[in-house]
Amino acid sequence: MSESNRRTFLKTAGATAAAVALAPGAHAAGNDLLRVGLVGCGGRGTSAAKEALRADPNVKLVAMCDAFMDRLDSSLKSLKNIKDIATKLDVADDRKFDGFDGYKKLLEHVDVVLLCTPPGFRPLQLAAAVEAGKHVFCEKPVAVDVAGVHSVLESAKLAKKKNISLCSGFCYRYDQAKRETVKRIHDGVIGDVAAMHITYLTGPIWHRGSDPKWTPMEYQMRNWYYYTWLSGDFIVEQHCHNFDKAQWVFNGKLPVAATGVGGRAQRREAKFGHIYDHFAVTLEYADGAKLFSFCRQMEQCPGNVNDHVIGTKGSAQLMPHTITTRDGKEWEYDGRAKDMYQVEHDELFAGIRAGKPINDGESAVNSTLMALLAREATYTGKRLTWKELVSSKQNLAPAKYEWGAIETPPVPTPGIYKLA
Ligand SMILES: NC(=O)c1ccc[n+]([C@@H]2O[C@H](COP(=O)([O-])OP(=O)(O)OC[C@H]3O[C@@H](n4cnc5c(N)ncnc54)[C@H](O)[C@@H]3O)[C@@H](O)[C@H]2O)c1
Repeated sequence: MSESNRRTFLKTAGATAAAVALAPGAHAAGNDLLRVGLVGCGGRGTSAAKEALRADPNVKLVAMCDAFMDRLDSSLKSLKNIKDIATKLDVADDRKFDGFDGYKKLLEHVDVVLLCTPPGFRPLQLAAAVEAGKHVFCEKPVAVDVAGVHSVLESAKLAKKKNISLCSGFCYRYDQAKRETVKRIHDGVIGDVAAMHITYLTGPIWHRGSDPKWTPMEYQMRNWYYYTWLSGDFIVEQHCHNFDKAQWVFNGKLPVAATGVGGRAQRREAKFGHIYDHFAVTLEYADGAKLFSFCRQMEQCPGNVNDHVIGTKGSAQLMPHTITTRDGKEWEYDGRAKDMYQVEHDELFAGIRAGKPINDGESAVNSTLMALLAREATYTGKRLTWKELVSSKQNLAPAKYEWGAIETPPVPTPGIYKLA
């Protein structure tokens, strides 16, 4: 979709939904029923719905939407099997929506919307939800391209203006153990942070097969992970969590440039679309600090997901929540932490009830941009600056959302690939 088409589309989507929107902040006080809608009924969306229903006593799931009705039905079926939320399910058949535009219809029925589709759709759906005055839980990453990030930033500003929530799925910021660890780093326990080494080394993830009845668009949508316009590549889709933790540790400080290497060594078959399976990127900060990012998804290689923080007086590790200082002191978080996925919904709904909506928009945008900087530096093979990235017109969305033909772009070749 071109930028002007995207804007026209947003305007239209917003206008339709706005006609039925509740007044922003309508549920800020009291115990009125909060009607929740889920968009994107996969693994994460199903769990997010469960967490939303556990977060507040007077909340119901009233509408669901997925590109595919079979996905929606299997999500609803598994929600029905969870005893403590069974009475909070009220999804009548005429409030089950599919296709590319289903979310617009869903918005007419809800007060809170959970956006859990592949991230390629996030900017469009978020803009429509905020335009319509709905409180939003918005999974990470928030976009897959630069145009999407700009759109999300506008939505975040509008959400603030309208006093509605934008709670992001960068869930580690809602984990008590990490909050305690990062607080100590911010308090100077390890001195100034000079560098971080973030790793996301895992095995491969699902592939949902193929079916001769599927069009190329259906194939890509079902196997969305392997297409950059849908997932952003795995450095954006998954490793963005580590970039978010780095942004948090660096107290919002953002990198100025990045240089990276990467490619696909194992995931080479056409069925895996055009994403990479490894990246190694150095991100530079204006004051000389460095962020070293490693991510890999390969079989038969050891896993390691961690965030190692190197300070002038010691070091910290965010996944085991440990700190070691140069004078030999050791600290480890020893409290019990409530499940962070539940905490983000608890805080989202508490904010709605208190009339103090959460807005994670700006940090979520910046963490997504850090991942985009790392991806694009690697794809182009050049040292890419933040300024070059944010001034690019990159928009990966297809011209039309239709179930027919769609090309698979080539695997990016460094030195040849260009950032739009
Ligand atoms: N915060 C976390 O720790 C965490 C964990 C897992 C996933 N996630 C995020 O959640 C999102 C979804 O991941 P998942 O693992 O649930 O994937 P999934 O494939 O299991 O679910 C995504 C669902 O969205 C549907 N969908 C696709 N396009 C749609 C559209 N335009 N409208 C409506 N539905 C659409 C798909 O059919 C699918 O059922 C991703 O952005 C992922 O990064 C976050």
